[in-house]
Amino acid sequence: MAAALYDPAEGYYGRPAGQVGKAGDFITSVSVGPLFGRLLARHIASWHQQAGSPERWRIIETGANDSSLAGDIISTLERLSADAGLEYAIIEPLPRLAQDQRKRLPGVAIVESAEAFAGDPLPSFVFGNEVIDALPFHVIESDGIAWIEQGVTVDDAGAFAWHPLGPAAAEVVGNLPVMPAGYRTEIRCGVRDFLRPLAAAMAGGRMLWIDYGFPQDDYYHEARTTGTLRTFSRHRAGEDPLDSPGEIDITAHVDFTALARDLDATGGQVVRFEPQGSFLTRVASPWLLEMEGRTDDTTKKELRAFQTLTHPGHLGSRFHVMEAAF
Ligand SMILES: C[S@@+](CC[C@H](N)C(=O)[O-])C[C@H]1O[C@@H](n2cnc3c(N)ncnc32)[C@H](O)[C@@H]1O
Repeated sequence: MAAALYDPAEGYYGRPAGQVGKAGDFITSVSVGPLFGRLLARHIASWHQQAGSPERWRIIETGANDSSLAGDIISTLERLSADAGLEYAIIEPLPRLAQDQRKRLPGVAIVESAEAFAGDPLPSFVFGNEVIDALPFHVIESDGIAWIEQGVTVDDAGAFAWHPLGPAAAEVVGNLPVMPAGYRTEIRCGVRDFLRPLAAAMAGGRMLWIDYGFPQDDYYHEARTTGTLRTFSRHRAGEDPLDSPGEIDITAHVDFTALARDLDATGGQVVRFEPQGSFLTRVASPWLLEMEGRTDDTTKKELRAFQTLTHPGHLGSRFHVMEAAF
């Protein structure tokens, strides 16, 4: 999965941006328009104020992709005069995406890893939209007693073979209930390694992750017998990750109980876990007051975007927000 998505030359995200959006393979809250970034900017500004408005501070975005979310957040903070002392940074391991981002956002620090900030930690707001679901995961299956994992055979590249669990998977599986034979699901083993350098770049602050997923009881529910792995290509969902590797997205839902454990292990304390709808509605309340009574087309369009982001039938309950204090 790591190679299929992130090989710098052949991986799905290794090519220039274009995967996300109506003209790409799937949409995210960012594709709904600039409102998502504007509301996140208000949330970040209120954290910065609560933190005593540190003179130098940093926003670290992961998974910035075409950088439109970064652009929306920066311009909103400027408009709210909440950008004093801000250093905006993007963590982008993929050279082609980084090249595009540098062109679009010349004032932003674009670095391969958060280790670049280890010698200069700052009060920081670290975040990512739909990044955790894109981190590689293992597909595992119960034989009724133990778990085995799916792998790609070396000599028969077109077929999956089942293997005994590797050590990383064995440790994570220790947290799962025993399931009936044939029960298939996913686990993510690399989240702590992903979070650790981000946490090391922070001199206190917040981390916020928005994604689709469930707490453990719901994720590993008896009825969810085939897991949540999906592929996406041109807005069509599939279930075979070996169908055109490098040309399709591969994803699985986030186990938020595991994410909370991983945040805890890297020094964070979860202070928020709620649906995107209720989170954005609270953040938006001053903005909604500003909009009251306006009937122009721009306002109507923005209110439609707000509905899409927050209504339970749209994106409001599909996505959850987990925020941790560091
Ligand atoms: C599903 S896309 C989401 C893009 C964007 N945040 C949005 O909401 O439209 C996932 C993004 O996460 C990025 N990503 C995955 N692993 C990463 C990592 N370890 N560090 C930084 N970015 C990563 C991918 O390159 C991709 O751009």
